[in-house]
Amino acid sequence: MPSRTLTDNADTAASSSSGRSQQISGANLYITMIAAVAAMGGLLFGFDTGVIAGAMLYIVPDLHLGPGGQGLVVSAVTFGALFGALAGGTSADAIGRRWTNIAAGLSFIIGSILSALAPNLEVLIASRIIIGAAIGLTSVAAPMYIAELAPRRQRGRLVSLFQLAVTLGILVSYLVDRALAPTQAWRWMLGLAFVPGTLLVLGMIPLPESPRWLMKSGAEDEARRVLALLRSPAQVEADMREIRDDLTHNQHSDWRELLMPGIRPALLIGIGLAVFQQVTGINTIIYYAPEIFQKAGFDKGTTALAATIGIGVVNVLSTLIAMWLVDRLGRKPLLLAGLGGMTASLATLGVAQRFGSTLGIEPRSLAPITVGFIGLYIVCFAFSMGPIVWLMISEIFPNQSRARASAISTSANWMANFLVSLSFPVLQAAMGPSLWFLYAAMGLGAIMFVIGYVPETKGKSLEEISLQWRVQPAVLPARS
Ligand code: BGC
Repeated sequence: MPSRTLTDNADTAASSSSGRSQQISGANLYITMIAAVAAMGGLLFGFDTGVIAGAMLYIVPDLHLGPGGQGLVVSAVTFGALFGALAGGTSADAIGRRWTNIAAGLSFIIGSILSALAPNLEVLIASRIIIGAAIGLTSVAAPMYIAELAPRRQRGRLVSLFQLAVTLGILVSYLVDRALAPTQAWRWMLGLAFVPGTLLVLGMIPLPESPRWLMKSGAEDEARRVLALLRSPAQVEADMREIRDDLTHNQHSDWRELLMPGIRPALLIGIGLAVFQQVTGINTIIYYAPEIFQKAGFDKGTTALAATIGIGVVNVLSTLIAMWLVDRLGRKPLLLAGLGGMTASLATLGVAQRFGSTLGIEPRSLAPITVGFIGLYIVCFAFSMGPIVWLMISEIFPNQSRARASAISTSANWMANFLVSLSFPVLQAAMGPSLWFLYAAMGLGAIMFVIGYVPETKGKSLEEISLQWRVQPAVLPARS
């Protein structure tokens, strides 16, 4: 049984001598740097999903695309991400977490060069699938790599850096689209991802491999060496014991074994969180904000775009709230508060847009009301379902199954993303503002799911978290 009273860097820091605490703050700085480098994949994830909307305005006439071609270019990334995420599971087990992150960086580089140079629709689609695969790889490998290296009491904040980078990437993509619009330079819009891609690869090369993967692969000495860079000496041995214990009790090494009782509940929670993150409607706003604002009465172009950039800024800033609170308050309170706010905002938006005239709301008030409640929705998403879903997918699974179970949860996220963004224009045409009630209903479902099934993981080691899924051997009847 692993010890329940272990402390990590953060606790040890308070009581240590000054030389020791210097060593520990050095370790803290090092782990923050490691997390920031791996999170660069998130920046590319956000940038490459956000940039296409603005770029399409110029790609369409340049490459003479019809509606079918347009749809393919936009959805190719999500399609690639679905498969990239599954491949990420196999790859993170086979070649390790570090190399999978490097492979993601290389795919980002290849995809962005290819898309910038694309002479025709076919090459453009192929390059967007490669970028999608890179996004899938990084959305599995980056949170997992950070979680497996982080001390337990800082894990929430460090893994949330990934989501902070996603939101920054989305914001940068809006700004790049706007800055390059006058010159219609869509090739630059797409090609710029080459820069963070290169930084990701160069940054990852000198970083250590995850100690959990090293232990799983039998490289105990190397795992000890890595842990010693990040933990106090006493903590190193305690962590090694916990990891070893977890690996001996959870030996699922096959995809099908993920359905066994010792892991199935965790897998259902991972998939549930991943799907609820999407079906509560986030990407209808992230991908379609200018259209939503125009429909609500903003004038075309500039004002709607400025409101969209405002949403991007709010998304980044509110993610900082999660980073500040996630290791203090815990995951569940933030999830519930955020989902409560998201659901209430969506329902209010639905009421204002659907019954505005009956309620005496003047048409010109509709635009500020829409921005206000969409802004509130984004704040609530950004401190809850945004970062915490990626965080919990990286922490709820046992060491042996983490890569494959994260891959399945993440590809469920991409599948749900694909369906929601594909269906939004059609549903909006059919349901009008009542569509907001549908996403609000999903929000209620998510609240019940979190209350009923999602465990609190704050302050626990990954091995302590996975203990709860362990199937206890049946009690043998006493011999007479
Ligand atoms: C989601 C994306 C979304 C982004 C918005 C991420 O956590 O997975 O689908 O576009 O947050 O910030």
